[in-house]
Amino acid sequence: MLKFTIHGLWPSNYIRRHPSGCTTSDLNTSLINGIVPVLDQDWPSYTINNSEFWDYEWKKHGSCSNMIPFDYFTLALDIYTRNDLQQILKHANVLHGNTYSINKVITAIQTSRVGVLPQLSCKKGDLVEIKLCLNKNPIPQYINCPPPPPNTACPTNM
Ligand SMILES: *[C@@H]1O[C@H](CO)[C@@H](O)[C@H](O)[C@H]1NC(C)=O
Ligand SMILES: *[C@@H]1O[C@H](CO)[C@@H](O)[C@H](O)[C@H]1NC(C)=O
Repeated sequence: MLKFTIHGLWPSNYIRRHPSGCTTSDLNTSLINGIVPVLDQDWPSYTINNSEFWDYEWKKHGSCSNMIPFDYFTLALDIYTRNDLQQILKHANVLHGNTYSINKVITAIQTSRVGVLPQLSCKKGDLVEIKLCLNKNPIPQYINCPPPPPNTACPTNM
């Protein structure tokens, strides 16, 4: 089945470059053993071995989250599961393989339960990534994302 998968969960901030690389220690996968089957489904790598991908994302981003690995990966899965982007877009009649205005895609997400401005990335005119932004309240809430970096911005007509 066609679906969006997880790229990562990135501690970020509006002003400076987001923090990264807060550890050089390898991710101890025995700490996330219980959720590996779900990670395999929802957070696969398209280029490298899945565990190496999670290790990369953990060292680069997760380690700066102040969370333990299990909580970090579980939070990402939780955010992902609550927002079935495939379903949200389908509901708005935005279907894979067709061409839509970027506003239609953004509006579909803004008027869904997500309710905020996503950040879309395109490559060669194709939508390749949808980012959702959250604050870091104890129970994170969705917030509007900043505009995308110019090199990944989607054309007005996709
Ligand atoms: C990985 O975590 C397990 C479970 O806490 C622990 O027993 C083991 O020593 C850890 N391995 C490393 C290399 O830190
Ligand atoms: C993926 O990488 C991990 C850690 O390096 C290794 O233990 C595992 O065997 C690899 N799996 C595959 C399918 O290559």
